[in-house]
Amino acid sequence: MIQQERMTVVCQREIAKNIFEMTLQGQIVQEMTPGQFVHIRVSNLLEPLLRRPISIASIQKEANEFTIIYRAQGRGTNVLSQKQIGDEVDVLGPLGNGFPVEAVDKGGTALLVGGGIGVPPLYELSKQLNARGVRTIHVLGFQTEEFAFYEEEFTQLGETYYVTDDGSKGFKGFVTDLLDELQLDFDVFYSCGPLPMLRALSSMYEDKKGYISLEERMGCGIGACFACICETNEGQEKNYVKICSDGPVFEKGVVKI
Ligand code: FES
Repeated sequence: MIQQERMTVVCQREIAKNIFEMTLQGQIVQEMTPGQFVHIRVSNLLEPLLRRPISIASIQKEANEFTIIYRAQGRGTNVLSQKQIGDEVDVLGPLGNGFPVEAVDKGGTALLVGGGIGVPPLYELSKQLNARGVRTIHVLGFQTEEFAFYEEEFTQLGETYYVTDDGSKGFKGFVTDLLDELQLDFDVFYSCGPLPMLRALSSMYEDKKGYISLEERMGCGIGACFACICETNEGQEKNYVKICSDGPVFEKGVVKI
């Protein structure tokens, strides 16, 4: 159920260039699942309605806390990055449909492929898959080393590969180049990141079961702007879907990308 709550900032730090990790405390954490997102009102003063959709990076239900990782790149997220411990922010969520963790059986292997700011939701997903007894392999792409984050966190959960455009960290090139080389064996793939990456993965693993998060295509995040409308492929029940409310996660092949 979607709720609105004033949540308290319990941690805020810059973990890579212009990339911030913020932990918030409140009750709505209990309803969250990996791949969902929240809509955060960044300021009461500037524009009261200025909100930003941000994906959930990790959920700590015992402590009533959850963590987001976001890039400070515009007015809204810059304001958010200045919040201090103890400040309150207005959060609407959890929103959207997340990744189905039950798509892989215990003992199976999941491949998690992320690009840039699409990497954060894969962290909670990996935690939950590991808790189910699923082996996870992570392939994470970033522009350069200075934008990369969470190496220790992902490595603790499974085999982890980094890919950068210039080779400053890990493999040089696209994540799909590395995947081509690795020829990994897995049961299901999950991915979040830029559309060209999702497109390339979907055709590369045509015969595999896979789930992609199209959160990059989101605007308002709450069904009001229609910026996220996407056409579906033939044979689907609906002709169009809204990424924010029908997604952001879809099974591979459902949405034309
Ligand atoms: Fe605005 Fe979906 S993002 S309607």
